[in-house]
Amino acid sequence: MTRAMQDDTIVDAGTSLSGDVLAIRGGHPLRGRVDVKGAKNLATKAMVASLLGETSSVLRDVPVLSDVAVVRSLLEVHGVRVSEGDETGSLVLDPRDVESAHFEEIDAHAGASRIPILFCGPLLHRLGQAFIPDLGGCRIGDRPIDFHLDALRKFGAIVEKLPSGIRLSAPDGLKGANIHLPYPSVGATEQVLLTAVRAKGETELRNAAIEPEIMDLIALLQKMGAIISYEPNRVILIEGVETLRGYDHRCIFDRNEAASWASAAIATDGEIFVGGAKQQEMLTFLNVFRKAGGWFDVHEDGILFRRAGDLQPVIIETDVHPGFMTDWQQPLTVALTQAHGRSIVHETVYENRMGFTDALVKMGADIVVHPHGLQDGPRRVPRRDLEQAAVITGPTPLRGAKIVVPDLRGGYSHVIAALTASGESTVSGVDILNRGYEKFLAKLGALGADFDVLG
Ligand code: EPZ
Repeated sequence: MTRAMQDDTIVDAGTSLSGDVLAIRGGHPLRGRVDVKGAKNLATKAMVASLLGETSSVLRDVPVLSDVAVVRSLLEVHGVRVSEGDETGSLVLDPRDVESAHFEEIDAHAGASRIPILFCGPLLHRLGQAFIPDLGGCRIGDRPIDFHLDALRKFGAIVEKLPSGIRLSAPDGLKGANIHLPYPSVGATEQVLLTAVRAKGETELRNAAIEPEIMDLIALLQKMGAIISYEPNRVILIEGVETLRGYDHRCIFDRNEAASWASAAIATDGEIFVGGAKQQEMLTFLNVFRKAGGWFDVHEDGILFRRAGDLQPVIIETDVHPGFMTDWQQPLTVALTQAHGRSIVHETVYENRMGFTDALVKMGADIVVHPHGLQDGPRRVPRRDLEQAAVITGPTPLRGAKIVVPDLRGGYSHVIAALTASGESTVSGVDILNRGYEKFLAKLGALGADFDVLG
């Protein structure tokens, strides 16, 4: 059994404890500093982009996450040599010997992540064919890939759905296309970017996602020699080029992790300095944070988060950038159980991202989930019955309970709820947090959390 806090000796944030079941004793405000590295939702895509280069790429500030390990392994089975760079947290990716991998090696990655779907364009350019295993990712909806496959067909790919995954080929190569996404999908926008940059001719992408991670991917593709222009009204134009070279790129910081720790600070009534957090990419979050009764100080090297006083209720609706990110709502909901009044969190991006509230209710929170939202109206995401709303009435004291983690951001929320609650909680399935929160347990320990790793 490893205690993270023995006689006030706090585990060094540099070490990472591992374990899947935690016994957490709540009631201790989290205080101290955590540092966020590169964004999970950029680093993995940047690694895939290295396949498009004729020479090696260097990626910096790569977080130590299981999603990164899955992508590294999938690149290696395709012949990419991946090694640690000279700078801590950097990777060198050498794509010069890319060859088609063997089915069983690829299939071993089935269900592990959603990122493999982004291998399609780069592998079709390099090999003229690709096999993509069944995808994984958080169970927050059925996570379809119809926007991706429709786009790939428009580039000229032949797409064959198999029981074990998707086989693609492009015997005549890939040609630029006009693509209008039904919804500003992050993944589908990345799919188009990673395919268009080496397609023959021009591509016009309309209704594109424009999250900061997307703009960072565009920046590194431009470093490789891609010609991409970002026009008004979510239009992106790409002029295909014959060859691209490797990039040297430092990942944008992980604003989802930064927002998670900010919510933890006000939920536990503590104070957390998040090193690496930047104001520009978090403007919308910071506005909501302030209205919820949070206080933040922006420094050169990070942002300090704490309460300004009693927490206040807010009404939020998740949306695409520059709106309030869907990944931010789960940790913030825990803090809203302590706000003085009634809050509403309206989830419009995923159809099943409120399941985590069951555990909060079990701990004493007053949350009512309306599965079809609170108002009728056109669904944002076509062909998806989304729009759930949670009505949270606070403040309600939370008490420890036995809880099981449902997904990445929900799992983070469960841990923060246990830290906010009085008494002891047992939280199982914490291992999933290694997908999106680097050195999570060590950071918790460094912030003074009182917990044991049980198994
Ligand atoms: C990315 O997922 C992120 N994941 C998600 O973060 C994030 O919540 C999401 O973007 C929205 O910002 C990664 O980058 C690895 P989408 P992605 O395509 O690309 C529907 C986290 O916690 N859709 O923008 O899968 C889809 O079902 C994760 O870090 C289709 O219908 O998101 C969803 O309802 C969770 N057909 C909506 O669009 C498609 O072909 C948004 O999905 C694709 C998507």
